[in-house]
Amino acid sequence: MSLVLDKMPLREPTPAGWFEVVMRDFPAFMQDHASCERKASAMAMSMVNKFPDHEALIEPMICLAKEELAHFHEVYRILHKRGIPLAVDERDPYVSALLKPVRHSRQEYFLDRLLVACLIEARSCERFTIVAAGLEDPELAPFYQRLAREEAGHFRVFLRLARHYFSEQQVFDRLQYLLDVETAAMLAVPLRAAVHQSGVCAPWVYENSFKTICKPCRQKQPKPWLS
Ligand SMILES: [Fe+2]
Ligand SMILES: [Fe+2]
Repeated sequence: MSLVLDKMPLREPTPAGWFEVVMRDFPAFMQDHASCERKASAMAMSMVNKFPDHEALIEPMICLAKEELAHFHEVYRILHKRGIPLAVDERDPYVSALLKPVRHSRQEYFLDRLLVACLIEARSCERFTIVAAGLEDPELAPFYQRLAREEAGHFRVFLRLARHYFSEQQVFDRLQYLLDVETAAMLAVPLRAAVHQSGVCAPWVYENSFKTICKPCRQKQPKPWLS
């Protein structure tokens, strides 16, 4: 058991084909991206609001909220320059699936929220890396390269905080479980031009169990994470 902070904590890579879908509607991808950055900033400040007594959390969360808001501002400026409006928020099934198994007692909730945030940041980092590598736009390619680096810093912050407040064993055990949830959620939502929504038909996630019927197509699926 060891948690390497520099290693991206993801079990499965984004499916091949996601980038192609993104490129078919890049304005929609950027609208979704703007919304993700705004929500990430709000989430960091909600951690400060919910855990004001956890002193080690306050400074990094304020910094994170500011950096995410700066990302939002940058994406907004690019959208504005290209004549693309901000979009109304839609429910993100990927994030909903990750939040579903979050436990309710104060300490368990705290650990789960840190680890869920860590996984969302890690997936964003992976996706921005894919986008940066595939884009030919001279403004956007370096922009997404930098964002990928900064999102990598974010997943490390959440993992470091989890290890500060909880034992290595507690973090490791819960992370293994949430990695299963993240993998299934990442594969379950429909393939779309969005930061987190991608995937092919795959099992749907429920709190403590995995169903083998894919809701969108009603077909039985294998359980790749159990092999
Ligand atoms: Fe960000
Ligand atoms: Fe982030």
